[in-house]
Amino acid sequence: MEKVVIITGGNKGIGFGLAKEFHKNGYRVISIARNKIEKLYTVEQYQCDLSITESIENVIDEIFSHLDRSSTKRLMLINNAGDLGPVDTLDNIDPKTIEYLIKLNLTAPLILNSLFIKLSKGWECKKKIINISSGAAINPYESWTLYCSAKAGIDMMTKVLSKEQKEIKNGVKVVSIYPGVVDTDMQAKARNTPKEKFKSVQRFIDFYEHGELFTPKQVAEKIYRLQTKGKLKNGKILDIRNVE
Ligand SMILES: NC(=O)c1ccc[n+]([C@@H]2O[C@H](COP(=O)([O-])OP(=O)(O)OC[C@H]3O[C@@H](n4cnc5c(N)ncnc54)[C@H](OP(=O)(O)O)[C@@H]3O)[C@@H](O)[C@H]2O)c1
Repeated sequence: MEKVVIITGGNKGIGFGLAKEFHKNGYRVISIARNKIEKLYTVEQYQCDLSITESIENVIDEIFSHLDRSSTKRLMLINNAGDLGPVDTLDNIDPKTIEYLIKLNLTAPLILNSLFIKLSKGWECKKKIINISSGAAINPYESWTLYCSAKAGIDMMTKVLSKEQKEIKNGVKVVSIYPGVVDTDMQAKARNTPKEKFKSVQRFIDFYEHGELFTPKQVAEKIYRLQTKGKLKNGKILDIRNVE
């Protein structure tokens, strides 16, 4: 019997940490991202731009065609891929970029969750969706309108889906996780923005200079530990800094 986890953006940053952690613990790991890491043999890698909604259905169908419901004892989806986008006030962001960021950060997780629930309907195994959200879902950072809006949407998606799934026999458990401040390219982008574009930039420089960033490995280990301890209960929205 196998344990399977599908991770978006499993090739980099937090997603890469999660891919390694789940693989270390015996999971079959499947990643979806635009780029492939050539030497990453432990992960099945699918190339897909998740902002192109039509291609999401193809890639998920392809992945499910290689899964076997009778030999799967646990099936998970981690919606992790994301992009902060240009750090600037909304009036300075062009409509195409607005569309792209909402598609990637919110529409793609909605479609992935929809397809995951549909295609795993009737499977006997344990099923879970982890949506990687952010404190930005509840803290309005100036110059992060699109990112904050998308993450707020992610949390509401978690709340509604978890209610829907609770009513269903062997439904999918759905959670949101805030990973804290993590040392990735996204974080570097935030702290390297000029102050005139991003009022809170000093806060992010301080996190870095005071050594307060988590590594992707620490975040992945914590998420995995919370999963094994049964802390990722349906409908929970958890900041990993506040749970043991
Ligand atoms: N870092 C933090 O401090 C922090 C804090 C709170 C929440 N988060 C959340 O954690 C998640 C991961 O962030 P990170 O910091 O690890 O970012 P990251 O290092 O920039 O990695 C982003 C990942 O998303 C994938 N991705 C980006 N655009 C994509 C697209 N169009 N289609 C498919 N995949 C795409 C990237 O792969 P490709 O480039 O190959 O496509 C990459 O694997 C995000 O949801 C982010 O909002 C991060």
